[in-house]
Amino acid sequence: ILIPYLLILIAYLLGSISSAVIFCKLAGLADPREVGSHNAGATNVLRIGGKSAALGVLLFDILKGTLPVAIGVSFNLSPSALGVIALAVCLGHIFPIFFQFKGGKGVATALGAISALSFVVVGGAIGTWLLVFLISGYSSLSAVLTALIVPFYIWWFEPQFTFPVALVCCLLVYRHHDNIQRLWRGQEDKMWDKLKKKN
Ligand code: G3P
Repeated sequence: ILIPYLLILIAYLLGSISSAVIFCKLAGLADPREVGSHNAGATNVLRIGGKSAALGVLLFDILKGTLPVAIGVSFNLSPSALGVIALAVCLGHIFPIFFQFKGGKGVATALGAISALSFVVVGGAIGTWLLVFLISGYSSLSAVLTALIVPFYIWWFEPQFTFPVALVCCLLVYRHHDNIQRLWRGQEDKMWDKLKKKN
């Protein structure tokens, strides 16, 4: 009976491990919260530290999203408990208790969490992200448009998770408010250019 509550707590604590800050520190790079977009996420690590560090952060953040939800699935927890676990790991990533509540924007962690809830929906989410990215070159625009459409995917394929997933998506869009303003002003930098550079 305690398992769901325990997993929610574990999810929040796991989400709170800010891989961007840790990886940058280990690699002797600048603190991602201090430079670039000031965001502790893979996109900003790509900006300041290159591809391999960013890939490491991306994989770590996806995995930490998947793990607690997948454990919940293996315990056959109810859809609402799984939804709260997914929300908790994203909240941990965005507001990490170990890093003065200054975390990332939650895109990779949410993808990881959703991958444990529905393969179809995570496939649709990745497809949408890639499509927007290939067309626009903006990581943030891809994330925002994906977050706007994923609630419809989940409602269609796994309606029992609609509420928590929609909540996560709202949080994601809200966390991109600076990016949205930069996109609007034409001041957002394109990730394409960073990816094409060799380092
Ligand atoms: O996933 C985060 C990305 O969408 C935006 O990151 O560093 O450009 O704010 P950033």
